[in-house]
Amino acid sequence: MQIAILKSAISDDRLVRAVHDFTQLPIHSSLQSEISYYLRVEGRRLQVLINRVGAPLPIEVDFLSGEWEFKVKTLGKNQMIFKAIGLDKTPPQIVDATAGFGQDTFSFLSKGCKVTAIEENPYIYLLLKNGLELAVETKKWSHLAGKFTVINAEAIQYMKENKIKPDVIYLDPMYSEISDKAKSKKEMEFLKEFLKPRDNSQSLLDFALVSARERVIIKRPAQAPSLNPKPTHSFQGRSTRYDMYITSNLT
Ligand SMILES: C[S@@+](CC[C@H](N)C(=O)[O-])C[C@H]1O[C@@H](n2cnc3c(N)ncnc32)[C@H](O)[C@@H]1O
Repeated sequence: MQIAILKSAISDDRLVRAVHDFTQLPIHSSLQSEISYYLRVEGRRLQVLINRVGAPLPIEVDFLSGEWEFKVKTLGKNQMIFKAIGLDKTPPQIVDATAGFGQDTFSFLSKGCKVTAIEENPYIYLLLKNGLELAVETKKWSHLAGKFTVINAEAIQYMKENKIKPDVIYLDPMYSEISDKAKSKKEMEFLKEFLKPRDNSQSLLDFALVSARERVIIKRPAQAPSLNPKPTHSFQGRSTRYDMYITSNLT
């Protein structure tokens, strides 16, 4: 697997430079057959392009899409995920320790939470950061500026080193298999190539339980057994379950 940066006449030069400085990847101006993936700079939008005939559309994190417009309108406070994090009081300060493409991060932000989004994969981190930065430049989402930080790191190490003690730690780790149903086809192809699926759920939970001031939430497949210890409460959906731990009950 080979990866490079792809720029064109419409690429924002500052973004090209920033991506190069961060990744140290070579910059190409045209597609080369030996490169399987490109970090493509389309104007100010960063995308992952799969370089093969018949490849799915490029992957990007776009919180300005119609899909998000609809999602944000319909994200009621009584949804399981918001009940789990405790939105009924003042919006909590959350560490989203497995941020991925930021669907959950953005949902929390849209409900007024402050979020530190931690993602260990450098390419997914770059896509997420780009998506959030472009969103806050718009009038609609400008109020989110200063409400989030995006970090490229392994979450436990980062929280330990920086002695981070948020109200809530939210976990949505990979399971031993990346669920085909959970991701769109293009994200699947990319994730299978770039991530080494490993089930680090228990170690993330163990660390989160001694670090979160109020609660820890871990998203699990609906039928998966709970981890240790047993959760304080579970919010059960058809395909997903949110296991919630009130950390003050554990001391
Ligand atoms: C299932 S995805 C998260 C999806 C995310 N909740 C969303 O809404 O888009 C899991 C992500 O967690 C990241 N991850 C897994 N373990 C991690 C760790 N220990 N530290 C930081 N990131 C981690 C993976 O790289 C992957 O991108």
